Amino acid sequence: MVTIKSKREIELMREACRVTALTHKAIEEAIRPGITTADIDEIAEKTMKKYGAISAEKGYDPGIKGVPPYPASTCISINDEVIHGVPSKNRIIKEGDIVSVDLVALKNGYNGDAARTYMVGKVSKEAQRLVEVTKQAFFEGIKYAKKGNRIGDVSHAIGEYVKSQGYSVVREFQGHGIGKYMHEDPGIPNYGKAGKGIRLEPGMTLAIEPMVIQGKPDIWELEDGWTIVTQDGSLSAHYENTILITENEPEVLTIL
Ligand code: MF3
Ligand code: CO
Repeated sequence: MVTIKSKREIELMREACRVTALTHKAIEEAIRPGITTADIDEIAEKTMKKYGAISAEKGYDPGIKGVPPYPASTCISINDEVIHGVPSKNRIIKEGDIVSVDLVALKNGYNGDAARTYMVGKVSKEAQRLVEVTKQAFFEGIKYAKKGNRIGDVSHAIGEYVKSQGYSVVREFQGHGIGKYMHEDPGIPNYGKAGKGIRLEPGMTLAIEPMVIQGKPDIWELEDGWTIVTQDGSLSAHYENTILITENEPEVLTIL
């Protein structure tokens, strides 16, 4: 069921999303060669706490038999890791890495979801272009995130833009509605047909999240039951914001 948020709920969404953005800001300031992904995770946890939130990812149970609840406060995925990388004190970030950090702050019962791919030190030209195209794919998509349009219009715009740049979108994971729950209806694929899917209405809050692969779209899941990597070993990037559908242009809630 797709929920339409009330005025009060929208204010609560704004606040959760502000904490999400502040947490990314703290990570952006701290990330550098030599830091571990566990260090980044700790910074995220502390920042959320400082602003009265907790991580909605920590302890998240996907409800899949044999998959343990998610053990950390953030997902950190480096280079050929696409999403759901599990932070570890043994994982040291190095110069030239592209590091995708996906986090969800839960405050006063509402969730704010955003992902960024950070470029650490000097990265290759190709990596930089991938990161920029992934971010732009989000903005191409939300040009269509307007009252009366359909979800498929957003999905189509993202998919076509990514394809036009010579990259692939991940097909197995998608954006989603968000609110009291981290994942609500509708699902929002990063490819699709214009004119299909539900109509957008003011008061919907949606997490739009292009996941882009430099090479072929195929992915594997690692033994840990979480980390998703590219099959061809090529790089991947992720960019996500929580947005609000309004009477006019969408509002991006997770950008300060
Ligand atoms: N934040 C992710 C998303 O964008 C979901 C993370 S799954 C979790 O939808 F297990 F880490 F929580
Ligand atoms: Co999301």
